[in-house]
Amino acid sequence: MAFVTEEFKAKAEKLCAKYPRRDAALIPLLQELQKESGYVAEEAMDELARFLGLPYSRVKAVVTFYTMFNREPAGKYHLQVCRNISCHMAGAPGLLALLREKLGIAEGETTKDGQFTLSAVECLGACGAAPVMQVNEEYFERLDEAKLDALLEDLRHGRLRARGL
Ligand code: FES
Repeated sequence: MAFVTEEFKAKAEKLCAKYPRRDAALIPLLQELQKESGYVAEEAMDELARFLGLPYSRVKAVVTFYTMFNREPAGKYHLQVCRNISCHMAGAPGLLALLREKLGIAEGETTKDGQFTLSAVECLGACGAAPVMQVNEEYFERLDEAKLDALLEDLRHGRLRARGL
Protein backbone atom coordinates (compact mmCIF):
# COMPACT_ATOMS: atom_id res chain seq x y z
CA MET A 1 0.00 0.00 0.00
CA ALA A 2 1.34 3.39 -0.96
CA PHE A 3 1.11 6.10 1.67
CA VAL A 4 2.81 8.92 -0.23
CA THR A 5 0.34 8.89 -3.12
CA GLU A 6 0.23 11.33 -6.02
CA GLU A 7 -2.55 13.17 -4.20
CA PHE A 8 -0.47 13.35 -1.03
CA LYS A 9 2.54 14.58 -3.03
CA ALA A 10 0.52 17.44 -4.50
CA LYS A 11 -0.53 18.55 -1.01
CA ALA A 12 2.98 18.03 0.32
CA GLU A 13 4.55 20.20 -2.41
CA LYS A 14 2.29 23.08 -1.38
CA LEU A 15 3.28 22.63 2.24
CA CYS A 16 6.99 22.39 1.42
CA ALA A 17 6.75 25.66 -0.51
CA LYS A 18 5.89 27.46 2.75
CA TYR A 19 9.26 26.59 4.27
CA PRO A 20 12.75 27.81 3.34
CA ARG A 21 13.90 24.14 3.13
CA ARG A 22 11.89 21.06 2.19
CA ASP A 23 13.02 19.09 5.22
CA ALA A 24 11.47 21.70 7.53
CA ALA A 25 8.08 20.29 6.48
CA LEU A 26 8.94 16.86 7.88
CA ILE A 27 6.85 17.06 11.07
CA PRO A 28 3.73 18.58 9.47
CA LEU A 29 3.93 15.98 6.71
CA LEU A 30 4.20 13.17 9.23
CA GLN A 31 1.16 14.62 11.01
CA GLU A 32 -0.69 14.63 7.71
CA LEU A 33 0.25 11.01 7.03
CA GLN A 34 -0.95 10.05 10.49
CA LYS A 35 -4.21 11.92 9.98
CA GLU A 36 -4.83 9.90 6.83
CA SER A 37 -3.95 6.42 8.12
CA GLY A 38 -4.14 6.75 11.92
CA TYR A 39 -0.47 5.86 12.28
CA VAL A 40 2.89 6.19 10.55
CA ALA A 41 3.89 2.86 9.04
CA GLU A 42 7.49 1.89 8.30
CA GLU A 43 6.73 2.05 4.56
CA ALA A 44 5.26 5.53 5.02
CA MET A 45 8.48 6.72 6.68
CA ASP A 46 10.50 5.22 3.84
CA GLU A 47 8.31 6.78 1.14
CA LEU A 48 8.36 10.19 2.86
CA ALA A 49 12.15 10.05 3.26
CA ARG A 50 12.52 9.43 -0.48
CA PHE A 51 10.03 12.18 -1.30
CA LEU A 52 11.92 14.73 0.83
CA GLY A 53 15.36 13.44 -0.14
CA LEU A 54 16.22 12.63 3.47
CA PRO A 55 17.83 9.55 4.99
CA TYR A 56 15.24 7.09 6.30
CA SER A 57 17.05 7.13 9.66
CA ARG A 58 16.26 10.82 10.12
CA VAL A 59 12.54 10.32 9.52
CA LYS A 60 12.48 7.28 11.79
CA ALA A 61 14.32 9.21 14.53
CA VAL A 62 11.65 11.94 14.48
CA VAL A 63 8.77 9.45 14.56
CA THR A 64 10.41 7.54 17.40
CA PHE A 65 11.20 10.68 19.42
CA TYR A 66 7.74 12.26 19.40
CA THR A 67 5.07 10.30 21.24
CA MET A 68 2.38 12.02 19.17
CA PHE A 69 3.27 9.68 16.31
CA ASN A 70 1.76 6.20 16.40
CA ARG A 71 3.85 3.47 14.85
CA GLU A 72 1.02 0.95 15.06
CA PRO A 73 -2.63 1.45 14.19
CA ALA A 74 -4.23 3.05 17.26
CA GLY A 75 -7.78 2.76 18.57
CA LYS A 76 -10.48 5.27 17.72
CA TYR A 77 -9.50 7.18 20.87
CA HIS A 78 -5.82 7.37 21.75
CA LEU A 79 -5.57 8.16 25.46
CA GLN A 80 -2.14 9.61 26.22
CA VAL A 81 -1.56 10.27 29.91
CA CYS A 82 1.39 12.46 30.79
CA ARG A 83 3.69 10.73 33.27
CA ASN A 84 6.24 13.49 33.86
CA ILE A 85 6.92 15.08 37.22
CA SER A 86 4.12 17.70 37.51
CA CYS A 87 1.48 15.26 36.34
CA HIS A 88 2.98 12.45 38.40
CA MET A 89 2.76 14.59 41.55
CA ALA A 90 -0.79 15.64 40.68
CA GLY A 91 -2.10 12.09 40.39
CA ALA A 92 -1.24 10.69 36.96
CA PRO A 93 -0.34 7.23 38.37
CA GLY A 94 -3.88 6.93 39.82
CA LEU A 95 -5.41 7.97 36.50
CA LEU A 96 -3.35 5.40 34.63
CA ALA A 97 -4.33 2.70 37.13
CA LEU A 98 -8.00 3.62 36.70
CA LEU A 99 -7.73 3.47 32.91
CA ARG A 100 -5.95 0.11 33.05
CA GLU A 101 -8.70 -1.24 35.27
CA LYS A 102 -11.65 0.24 33.34
CA LEU A 103 -10.33 -0.63 29.90
CA GLY A 104 -8.67 -3.95 30.78
CA ILE A 105 -5.49 -3.05 28.91
CA ALA A 106 -1.97 -1.96 29.79
CA GLU A 107 -0.01 0.96 28.38
CA GLY A 108 0.82 0.35 24.74
CA GLU A 109 -2.27 -1.80 24.17
CA THR A 110 -5.57 -1.33 22.35
CA THR A 111 -8.93 -2.66 23.50
CA LYS A 112 -10.26 -5.60 21.47
CA ASP A 113 -13.13 -3.50 20.11
CA GLY A 114 -10.59 -1.03 18.67
CA GLN A 115 -12.03 1.87 20.67
CA PHE A 116 -9.18 2.79 22.99
CA THR A 117 -5.40 2.79 22.94
CA LEU A 118 -3.64 3.66 26.19
CA SER A 119 -0.21 5.30 26.39
CA ALA A 120 1.87 6.93 29.12
CA VAL A 121 3.78 9.77 27.48
CA GLU A 122 6.34 12.43 28.24
CA CYS A 123 5.45 16.05 29.09
CA LEU A 124 2.57 17.39 27.01
CA GLY A 125 3.60 20.98 27.69
CA ALA A 126 0.63 21.84 29.92
CA CYS A 127 2.29 21.25 33.29
CA GLY A 128 0.41 24.15 34.96
CA ALA A 129 -2.84 22.24 34.42
CA ALA A 130 -1.60 18.85 35.65
CA PRO A 131 -2.58 16.10 35.49
CA VAL A 132 -3.12 16.15 31.76
CA MET A 133 -4.30 13.61 29.21
CA GLN A 134 -4.43 14.02 25.46
CA VAL A 135 -7.20 12.24 23.55
CA ASN A 136 -6.48 12.37 19.83
CA GLU A 137 -6.01 16.13 19.27
CA GLU A 138 -7.80 17.31 22.45
CA TYR A 139 -6.25 18.08 25.84
CA PHE A 140 -8.06 17.32 29.11
CA GLU A 141 -6.54 19.17 32.03
CA ARG A 142 -6.74 19.11 35.85
CA LEU A 143 -8.17 15.63 35.65
CA ASP A 144 -9.27 13.60 38.63
CA GLU A 145 -10.87 10.18 38.77
CA ALA A 146 -14.46 11.50 38.65
CA LYS A 147 -13.72 13.66 35.60
CA LEU A 148 -11.92 10.78 33.94
CA ASP A 149 -14.89 8.50 34.56
CA ALA A 150 -17.25 11.05 32.99
CA LEU A 151 -14.89 11.49 30.05
CA LEU A 152 -14.70 7.73 29.42
CA GLU A 153 -18.47 7.58 29.48
CA ASP A 154 -18.61 10.39 26.91
CA LEU A 155 -16.09 8.64 24.69
CA ARG A 156 -17.98 5.36 24.89
CA HIS A 157 -20.92 7.29 23.45
CA GLY A 158 -18.77 8.81 20.73
CA ARG A 159 -18.51 12.25 22.31
CA LEU A 160 -15.05 13.83 22.31
CA ARG A 161 -15.16 17.33 23.70
CA ALA A 162 -13.31 19.22 26.39
CA ARG A 163 -16.44 20.65 28.05
CA GLY A 164 -16.09 21.99 31.57
CA LEU A 165 -13.22 19.74 32.60
S1 FES B 1 4.49 17.28 33.27
FE1 FES B 1 2.55 16.74 32.45
S2 FES B 1 2.18 18.27 30.98
FE2 FES B 1 4.18 18.69 31.67
